Amino acid sequence: MSPRWYADHDLTAANTLGLPCRAERFVAPMTPAELGEALALAREGGWPTLVLGGGSNLILPAFLTGLVIRPAMNDWWLVESGDGSVRVHAEAGVVWHELVMALAARDLWGLENLALIPGHCGAAPIQNIGAYGVELAERLEAVHLVHLDDGREAVLGPQACAFGYRDSVFKHALAGRVAITRLVMRVSRTPEPRLGYGDLAGRVTESPTALEVAEAVCAVRREKLPDPAVLGNAGSFFKNPVVSSERAASLREAYPDMPSFPLDDGRTKLAAGWLIDRCGLKGWRDGAFGVHDRQALVLVHHGGGDAAGLLAFAARVADTVERRFGVALEREPRLATG
Ligand code: FAD
Ligand code: EPU
Repeated sequence: MSPRWYADHDLTAANTLGLPCRAERFVAPMTPAELGEALALAREGGWPTLVLGGGSNLILPAFLTGLVIRPAMNDWWLVESGDGSVRVHAEAGVVWHELVMALAARDLWGLENLALIPGHCGAAPIQNIGAYGVELAERLEAVHLVHLDDGREAVLGPQACAFGYRDSVFKHALAGRVAITRLVMRVSRTPEPRLGYGDLAGRVTESPTALEVAEAVCAVRREKLPDPAVLGNAGSFFKNPVVSSERAASLREAYPDMPSFPLDDGRTKLAAGWLIDRCGLKGWRDGAFGVHDRQALVLVHHGGGDAAGLLAFAARVADTVERRFGVALEREPRLATG
């Protein structure tokens, strides 16, 4: 059966920033075959194609020409291996947080620190989602995908994904060129709590279950991060900047309370939220947009704004940080062009 097609489809509720957007054409294929059919039609028609997930890391323009495809294949399953580890296969349309909680409830370890990250599984490798000391890359074994330009299917291993901090091949050589259809991740029956980030350890019992850790992560996140259902946002608006260790040392001299995290490659990661906060911008609002009052790295949309307004607001935040600290901030959410 062919998937249902929509013309002039409203995506305002399909992006967590709540930016007004209409798509010329929209389809939500429920099987790989339906996805293949949609991609073939897009190729025939020469339509620019955007693959959409939960819309939680995207800045959408008022109008998207061509085709927006939101994969709606949403099965997941487990494959046991003899050594105590388990592979979880998750199709692109599976809601990430629901999968994490389902695995944690089965006491399968590995993804519990990534609870409550919005969005769908298909988007998780794009920026190598990470939180509370864990990144997807540590658990990812394979990404199944289809190339938009010729319908060719492929499976990439972790090396080919070229994962980095909020980075992957899907932001570079393969940006906008593939639809991810399925992930394969490794989880474990052996308890592997990762409680080193912030005050996580203090929020769980001595030998916690995976579910307990996931629930603690959810609780910390709810204290800081705005719920997109209540206040439009895309999570962190900027990446945490990485600078040379010399630059970090000279900043720490001027600002001894500045958080900084040494990386394996000798460089140092700074906390963009702290830099913005320290500029006095936390809670600052100008019209439709603002800096969240509990987490300065999150820009919020109070309603009535558009992509251009958001980018202009963000540029003012970044300029203020650059003038004060000499540190450039790089945007995290992807910008979709019409
Ligand atoms: P979308 O926003 O729909 O898409 C993002 C990008 O992926 C786009 O370029 C899109 O074209 C592409 N894409 C989507 N699906 C596919 C697919 N199937 N195939 C190919 N390309 C695709 N991120 C973190 O890493 N850590 C956090 O702690 C975190 N916290 C957040 C908290 C809040 C409140 C919010 C709103 C966001 C947060 N994010 C965080 C960002 C976001 O949730 C993640 O980046 C998430 O993986 C995006 O998923 P999505 O399905 O919403 O992707
Ligand atoms: N900080 C402030 N003021 C603020 C915000 C933060 O001083 O307003 C300080 C904190 O006190 C802390 C440091 O900055 O010392 C880091 O803050 P936090 O632990 O809240 O994390 P973050 O660096 O701001 C990153 C990710 C989040 C992820 C959390 C938890 C990036 C860009 N962001 O935020 O990911 O959930 O760590 O691991 O790496 C996202 O990518 O959308 C996202 C929400």
